[in-house]
Amino acid sequence: VEQSYIMVKPDGVQRGLVGEIISRFEKKGFLLKGLKLFQCSKDLAEEHYKDLKDKPFFPTLIDYITSGPVVCMAWEGNGVVASARKLIGATNPLQAEPGTIRGDLAVQTGRNVVHGSDSPDNGKREIGKFSNN
Ligand code: GTP
Ligand code: MG
Repeated sequence: VEQSYIMVKPDGVQRGLVGEIISRFEKKGFLLKGLKLFQCSKDLAEEHYKDLKDKPFFPTLIDYITSGPVVCMAWEGNGVVASARKLIGATNPLQAEPGTIRGDLAVQTGRNVVHGSDSPDNGKREIGKFSNN
């Protein structure tokens, strides 16, 4: 069955948005298969965002993701990867549609409250990485 790795980023945890974010996936009808509060290491953050390592904002991104605890979740269901990306909204919260998580709850790309896997293969891979760390 398809699974997506969904992670509430440190700003989402600090702002008290964990319940709100979980609620959106629950109400949509996906199944929560795993959850933990977790302090992401620099190494794991760099591995998670390795495709972005040449971007100018990479060091800022790693500092952000490791700045406090995250909530790691595995969500399951047919089409969950693409649907979660729609529920989350565009990377830049100012461009995210109202009704999406980022569209409703954030204003900065560098503090966009939640991560969602971009393919089913990456969903499996990310869930594996974060459950074994
Ligand atoms: P994730 O679900 O977190 O992977 O976001 P995404 O798939 O919508 O975007 P992408 O994978 O391209 O970028 C990963 C994360 O890097 C984004 O969610 C942002 O937190 C951060 N990021 C992307 N672009 C920028 C940028 O231009 N500036 C800053 N500060 N952060 C960025
Ligand atoms: Mg991404």
